[in-house]
Amino acid sequence: MSRLLNSVYKAASVEALESYYDSWASDYEREMFDSGLRLPWISAALFSRVAPDPNIAVIDAACGTGLQGEALALAGYRNLTGVDLSTSMLNIAAGKDIYRSLHHIAIERMDFDDQSFDACICNGCFTPGHAPSSSMRELTRVVRVDGVIVFSIRVDGNLGRSYLEEMESLLNEGRWMIIFQTRSFFSMPLTEPYMQHQVFAVKKIK
Ligand SMILES: C[S@@+](CC[C@H](N)C(=O)[O-])C[C@H]1O[C@@H](n2cnc3c(N)ncnc32)[C@H](O)[C@@H]1O
Repeated sequence: MSRLLNSVYKAASVEALESYYDSWASDYEREMFDSGLRLPWISAALFSRVAPDPNIAVIDAACGTGLQGEALALAGYRNLTGVDLSTSMLNIAAGKDIYRSLHHIAIERMDFDDQSFDACICNGCFTPGHAPSSSMRELTRVVRVDGVIVFSIRVDGNLGRSYLEEMESLLNEGRWMIIFQTRSFFSMPLTEPYMQHQVFAVKKIK
């Protein structure tokens, strides 16, 4: 495991996580491609199936360098808003010229109005050391009723427990319904062969 990948999973505070990603940004995509990363492509494929209209307003939560946004933009989505904790990651995303706007904010407390977006995609951020599970509620708040949220959760070694529990609460409260979930799969098979994720698509009910 690369030093920085190891650091971000063990980040003890939001400030530490931001600083790790700031220093990782320039090497991030190279390391991800070396890892055989497949998450953004699987998430984009699922997203385009559950939210096929390319004109919808999409929030790319924890957009990083824009790998996920790039896949969506190539598939025709043109109304993308990106948010992320790391300025250096956002600067790389900005250089791709695919986002209408980019915001330096944490996804657990955003300053968008309720129901500002038709859909949300959140890839690679529901994982240890990253956004708290409560951010699932914040993503739900900013998406309109009947809108969709597509997200990944790291699931190997029971590491996704807090996110899966929050999901269960949102389902039990009648706020979400699951549209589709992948089986767990090896997400970075070349350099992190133990790591597994699942990708979910849910619809906001209320
Ligand atoms: C593994 S990267 C994934 C980036 C992008 N979604 C992708 O698929 O390439 C995780 C990203 O989440 C961001 N992040 C972590 N915690 C966050 C939080 N609480 N709010 C906003 N962004 C966060 C990091 O800065 C980093 O850019």
